[in-house]
Amino acid sequence: MPVDRDKLKQQAALRAVEFVEDSMIVGLGTGSTAYFVVEGLGARVAGGLKITGIPTSERTATQARSLGIPLATFAEHQHIDLTIDGADEVERGSLNLIKGLGGALLREKIVANASRRLVIVVDQEKLVDRLGDHTAVPVEVTQFGWQATAARLKELSAEPVLRHAHEDHPFITDGGNYTLDCRFPRIDDPRRLENAINAIVGVVDCGLFIGRASAVVVAASDGIHVMNAL
Ligand code: A5P
Repeated sequence: MPVDRDKLKQQAALRAVEFVEDSMIVGLGTGSTAYFVVEGLGARVAGGLKITGIPTSERTATQARSLGIPLATFAEHQHIDLTIDGADEVERGSLNLIKGLGGALLREKIVANASRRLVIVVDQEKLVDRLGDHTAVPVEVTQFGWQATAARLKELSAEPVLRHAHEDHPFITDGGNYTLDCRFPRIDDPRRLENAINAIVGVVDCGLFIGRASAVVVAASDGIHVMNAL
């Protein structure tokens, strides 16, 4: 029988929502998995849970508002107790991540960086032995000079492809930037690669999230597993 990925994502999302406690400031992720997290949080808020959410995208903010989840910004809170988000790849063992296929990597990284705990929710298809096995590394770049930035990324052995929203229309992030999806032949040292990418002028940030996840909730066909960072 084919695996229902949405059902798995929802089960894992609901498990992660159990980590949320009264009066927490909660970072709200972006993507189809984070959608179920926000939905689950909305149900708990309707049941009396008191939290304040900090969303990682306009999309998530809209969903959270529609469910009555109170929202704030970094103007009010510079520290977040717990962020729950999805990911595109999770490296077994290290819990290093690739994020950003959903287009929200910059806000996601700012929110993750401000968070005491980052809990990632994925289905088993996202687990890899080495980062980059399945997906490209999204790199958010300024619109100005993006071709020059792409050329610098090629010097790191990347094959950058400008992401499009529609034919002839580049995808534009919530921050007004472009995204270059960068395939790398092999990522041996992800922390070094993250530093090298982010040192290029014109790069705003990249989708490598190294040493940031506190725990990963994985939905597998045999149940929900929680992997904790060492
Ligand atoms: C958004 O920019 C991404 O980082 C998402 O968290 C990631 O793409 C996972 O999305 P799905 O849950 O839709 O697979």
